Amino acid sequence: MMKSILIILFLSILVSACVQTENSSTGDADTFAPVTIDKSTAAGERLSNAFGVIQRNCVSCHSQFNLTTDAQWLNTNYVVRNSPSTSSIYCRIKGSGCGAEDMPPTGSISALELSYISTWISGL
Ligand code: HEC
Repeated sequence: MMKSILIILFLSILVSACVQTENSSTGDADTFAPVTIDKSTAAGERLSNAFGVIQRNCVSCHSQFNLTTDAQWLNTNYVVRNSPSTSSIYCRIKGSGCGAEDMPPTGSISALELSYISTWISGL
């Protein structure tokens, strides 16, 4: 009797030790999980291009920019429909030509990357 209890105890410890409740190597995997945006439409491709730039250059500091639909962006104050020059997500970026351009704080993004963001906003 005692022996079978011990065996059950041993087996249950063994099983629970194997259940992984979170990814221990990347504790924040959820936050930075690669997002798949449907690029089968022109609008989807514009968003995907722009969001890729934002994700690579901005989201590490601005978790509030981790938005993957046009509707979510339009609900913020960062994007003004069809108006890059009054959208802070574009205008704060170095090289955008709007003034008050200081993002990202170190380094800069390329002209092509900037154009992805302005093209996306112009098409909203
Ligand atoms: C190294 C960290 C860092 C990175 C990377 C960064 N920012 Fe920022 N950003 C800040 C800080 C800090 C502030 C707050 C200070 C301020 O508002 O001037 C800020 C402010 C802003 C604001 C105003 C925020 C608001 O709520 O009104 C915008 C818009 C912005 N950043 C856009 C961007 C964009 C776009 C990128 C990527 C191209 C970017 N930032 C990358 C640190 C960062």
